[in-house]
Amino acid sequence: MACIMMKKRKLGPCVTFFPQPTTLVTSVDTAGKVNLMTASWAGIVSKTPPTMAISLNRSRLTYEQIRQTGCFVVNMVPVSLAVAADFCGIRSGRDRDKAVVTGLTLVPAEQVAAPLVGECPLNVECRLVREVELGDYRLMLGEIVQIHAAEQAFAEDGGMSVAAFDPLVYLGGIREYWSLGGHVADAYRDGLRLEDGK
Ligand SMILES: Cc1cc2nc3c(=O)[nH]c(=O)nc-3n(C[C@H](O)[C@H](O)[C@H](O)COP(=O)(O)O)c2cc1C
Repeated sequence: MACIMMKKRKLGPCVTFFPQPTTLVTSVDTAGKVNLMTASWAGIVSKTPPTMAISLNRSRLTYEQIRQTGCFVVNMVPVSLAVAADFCGIRSGRDRDKAVVTGLTLVPAEQVAAPLVGECPLNVECRLVREVELGDYRLMLGEIVQIHAAEQAFAEDGGMSVAAFDPLVYLGGIREYWSLGGHVADAYRDGLRLEDGK
């Protein structure tokens, strides 16, 4: 294994460069108005109970709507939807109907009032369970109540095809979208090679 010590440059406290998933968060208000918003500060944060966290600036329409109806859906954005997702991260639903502009299809969810994005390969239905204040941001913790995964991602032998998801990666520091490179190792397995005698 080639491990090389790297010379570093201090950047101070900032939010640069960590690779993040690109997601579209769907929400709905009590009047039934639906909205889509791009969020990269999103991830699964617990297995028991299955929990997802998203971090929203309190000025977002999405934040208002989630507080009203107590639910949201996190939709994984594939590479093919980079332009649509970027749009949903620039304009607010207060000014534009982002589903109309992007042409994305909203599909009813099973357990929550917020809809799924039909073109996204993975949709995670969440019920809001807690909100944590972080300055201007609010960490919204959602219990995962259902997940929809694209049929084409399931191989006949029961394995999963990552290529079918083709997730879009966001690099915040340089404001660029990238795709995944390729498979490099197997988790919970290849690390064991470092143990003595293996
Ligand atoms: C790639 C990308 C990622 C973003 N991630 C977040 C995020 O995690 N949290 C957040 O509050 N805003 C994030 N934004 C900004 C919001 O998507 C943007 O302010 C949006 O217009 C809010 O929409 P809304 O007012 O309709 O809810 C992101 C924008 C982009 C382009």
